[in-house]
Amino acid sequence: MAHTITLIPGDGIGPEVADATRRVLEASGVKIEWEVHNAGAAVAEKRGTTLPDEVLESVRRNKVALKGPIGTPIGKGFRSVNVTLRQALDLYANVRPIRSLPGVEPRFEGTDIVIVRENTEDLYAGLELMIMPGVAQSIKLITERACARICEYAFDYAEKMNRKRVTVVHKANIMKLSDGLLLEVFRKVAMRFPRIEPAEVIVDACALQMVKNANKLDVIVTENLYGDILSDLGAGLVGGLGIVPGANIGISSAVFEAVHGTAPDIAGKGIANPTALVQSAVMMLHHLGEHTAATKIEKGLLATFQSGVRTADLSGTAGTEDFTRALCDAIGRA
Ligand code: NAI
Repeated sequence: MAHTITLIPGDGIGPEVADATRRVLEASGVKIEWEVHNAGAAVAEKRGTTLPDEVLESVRRNKVALKGPIGTPIGKGFRSVNVTLRQALDLYANVRPIRSLPGVEPRFEGTDIVIVRENTEDLYAGLELMIMPGVAQSIKLITERACARICEYAFDYAEKMNRKRVTVVHKANIMKLSDGLLLEVFRKVAMRFPRIEPAEVIVDACALQMVKNANKLDVIVTENLYGDILSDLGAGLVGGLGIVPGANIGISSAVFEAVHGTAPDIAGKGIANPTALVQSAVMMLHHLGEHTAATKIEKGLLATFQSGVRTADLSGTAGTEDFTRALCDAIGRA
């Protein structure tokens, strides 16, 4: 039976990596019917909105979407599409596995952590005001409910994925109430998961530890802003943004997308690395229960990297097309 899935190609390199990912999925043998919808800068001028209603309706109906990066025009009164999408669909958990791939530089080898980022509140709640000319205020919103469900998600994920530890990342020494609330809830939730070791680390110390000994952190659970920043640091640990996948998980729908943005500096040049979106699609296949197709793509990716085919961001010479063709061939042999 074919799965009906919403595809939002996005802006910049989005359509290039989305097209590559569609071909890779096809090569894996999984049957997908795509509902393609545009959002972001591509539709802003024509539609007067960056997120037309039918996009949200399609994701709500299909419950699963694959999404390319989206740029929100700055200073034109548009709200971030990504933030709006995550809030409208209540995609509260942003899961980002940071894992090294073979054949990428040795200094990037051996990293294997997962960042579980709260996706709906914190400084991203959109609560900003000008108190008076020259004085702006952004409100950091942290609720017990959101802390509880993200901590529960992280511990549950750790148990299911046979991880040993969940580390909460915070700055409760300074933000005693907001980050203090996260810490308090984390400690309570941890008691319900005796097989998983809980750990606590302040966000600045976490940045250091990620560079020195990332794997000790194992599964990180954290607020929206810290998770956003640490994800890019994590990407740097495994070779860059061209690799790292992500999933936005809610109660009734899930949107799979790479960590990277629209990469305007390389858009349209045919050199973008599609690996991050391909790996996001692999997460999507596991979510759909299509484990055989997911494993085929994982094996194909390993074989492609081991054979030395790499895009320019990983110091290789392959363009998006060469890489995609090599990957599809490898999947055919997997
Ligand atoms: P970016 O991730 O687009 O680019 C940062 C650097 O990484 C650039 O040098 C780029 O060429 C490189 N890069 C990123 N992905 C790559 C890939 N797949 N292959 C090869 N190189 C890659 O971050 P930036 O420049 O800060 O953001 C650009 C735009 O993207 C902004 O409008 C931002 O708001 C948006 N954005 C959207 C996201 C989303 O839709 N989820 C996430 C992050 C940013």
